[in-house]
Amino acid sequence: MISVTLVGSGNVAHHLAKAMDDTSNIAFSNWVVRDTSKVLHETTAPIVTDFKKIPSTDIVILAISDDAISTYSSQIETLKALVVHTSGSVNLSDLDKKHRRGVFYPLQTFSKKRVLDFSKVPICIEALTKQDLQLLKSLSDALGCKSVVISSDQRSALHIAAVFVNNFTNQLYRIAHEISDGSRLDFAILKPLILETALKVQDLSPYQAQTGPALRNDKKTLKRHLKQLDNENHKLIYELLTKSIQQTHGR
Ligand SMILES: NC(=O)c1ccc[n+]([C@@H]2O[C@H](COP(=O)([O-])OP(=O)(O)OC[C@H]3O[C@@H](n4cnc5c(N)ncnc54)[C@H](OP(=O)(O)O)[C@@H]3O)[C@@H](O)[C@H]2O)c1
Repeated sequence: MISVTLVGSGNVAHHLAKAMDDTSNIAFSNWVVRDTSKVLHETTAPIVTDFKKIPSTDIVILAISDDAISTYSSQIETLKALVVHTSGSVNLSDLDKKHRRGVFYPLQTFSKKRVLDFSKVPICIEALTKQDLQLLKSLSDALGCKSVVISSDQRSALHIAAVFVNNFTNQLYRIAHEISDGSRLDFAILKPLILETALKVQDLSPYQAQTGPALRNDKKTLKRHLKQLDNENHKLIYELLTKSIQQTHGR
């Protein structure tokens, strides 16, 4: 059975801790946190508060902020364990060379307040040896997840793609929320459309799934929308996305 030490008490650590507690295939040996008040999941693992003294296990997962990974990995003592981070954008080589190094990047959006089925999360794994890669695959298997071996460069590109599909899309929802509020409309009326937009690309390519005035080149409608928008940033985003759709579809 693989033994794991988890470091961090943020969103990813919260979900990983829960997933490890939910499976009998992993020995969740230690949860290292700086501030116990941030631990919102009732765990079976012992909580360790000495952030500098990491108990060694088969794998140590650093689920900490991107900017802290490099320095933190050099501050802790050399471990026998495979030390991995969970970031989409930090290079494997940013982990201190004194450790056996790897990446265990769960490609999903995690918030402590949301319940999610961890077994549906694809895990992007990377390591320097076949044995360590196999160890990460086994950890992923034990969590019931599908793992994909990808390089740091590929992961960085994937992270940019993820920012587009998740963070930017969510900001567009936020703008839509402001627009609907501004006209005293309930944002909830847009929710079936939001769902269908996400479901549609499960079957069609994003290229095939596109509809709307930019694709149809309905010039009068486009002009009317721009005139109606009073927020300058919203206007710029509308113009930029219209241009992007029209370039993609040769309008
Ligand atoms: N959230 C997501 O959707 C998501 C998805 C995939 C991957 N990731 C990656 O997973 C990692 C964690 O993300 P998160 O969303 O869980 O972040 P988060 O909720 O902001 O939590 C960050 C964690 O890092 C710790 N930390 C911050 N600065 C530190 C330092 N200087 N030294 C040691 N620990 C430090 C924090 O400790 P304190 O609470 O004590 O400050 C906290 O436990 C990041 O690499 C992120 O890119 C996130």
